[in-house]
Amino acid sequence: MTFRLDGKVALIFGAGSCGPGWGNGKAAAVAYARAGASVVAVDLDIGRADETQSIIEQEGGSCLALKADVTQAGEIKAAVAKTMAAHSKIDILHNNVGIDGMGNLIELSESDWNHVIATNLTGVFLICKHVLPAMIQQKSGVITNISSVASLSVRSAELIGYNVTKAGLNHLTRTLAVGYANKGIRANAILPGLMNTPMIYQVRELMMQYESEEAMVRARDAQSPTGKMGDAWDVANAAVFLASDEAKYINGVMLPVDGGLSCVTG
Ligand SMILES: NC(=O)c1ccc[n+]([C@@H]2O[C@H](COP(=O)([O-])OP(=O)(O)OC[C@H]3O[C@@H](n4cnc5c(N)ncnc54)[C@H](O)[C@@H]3O)[C@@H](O)[C@H]2O)c1
Repeated sequence: MTFRLDGKVALIFGAGSCGPGWGNGKAAAVAYARAGASVVAVDLDIGRADETQSIIEQEGGSCLALKADVTQAGEIKAAVAKTMAAHSKIDILHNNVGIDGMGNLIELSESDWNHVIATNLTGVFLICKHVLPAMIQQKSGVITNISSVASLSVRSAELIGYNVTKAGLNHLTRTLAVGYANKGIRANAILPGLMNTPMIYQVRELMMQYESEEAMVRARDAQSPTGKMGDAWDVANAAVFLASDEAKYINGVMLPVDGGLSCVTG
């Protein structure tokens, strides 16, 4: 069975990749396009959105690249308006943006705390606020929020802002799922575990825990019950399934994509 999205419009926030290779947002955008959807790739960094657009177009798909910062309500509103002007509907909303905001409760500054909340939580609130009216009018829509297994258990107290915002994102997702199910709208979250994406090589505090990149990869692989980290395609393929009509009765689910890690850590 293939989970086709022909004729659907997918709006992805954080659709670039934060480094060379495949991050979760870029892979999701390309996977939606490969399944037949027209993609709108939004990113804070327009160069990253442009890269996603060119990959999709080279494969014969359709993609519009837009610049928007999810901490800025006006930029979100403009991106949604441009999507509606181009396609007149939004079938799939994929919220991929998430920053780590390293620091424990004492170390994390108030402004960094506010920034991680603005990015990981208020950003999704604002995006949904602007996209939901179109979905309500259409009487259909799928929202997929990218959370983390850090929303379920505290793997690191040095990630207080991240842990708290991802836990909040889970409940925002459940509340959306309950609130709009009778309007034909589904909302689910994907909870990636330890993934081998460009992001892990860019977080200085993460890298500093290990003597080399190879040591970090070995340590992260060893923590997974499978003996290997996942990758961005594991998240992207789950998102395509959740967006498809085959998942039409799946609503309010927090789906770990973690090789079983959360069965061990809770
Ligand atoms: N990589 C992992 O191991 C892992 C594990 C668990 C959860 N996640 C979640 O996956 C998501 C990100 O995936 P990734 O780590 O592969 O990164 P990614 O490579 O998908 O990059 C995220 C993109 O978001 C963009 N972005 C950042 N701030 C933004 C803002 N304010 N407005 C608009 N765009 C912005 C960046 O420019 C980048 O292109 C996050 O929600 C993260 O919490 C990742």
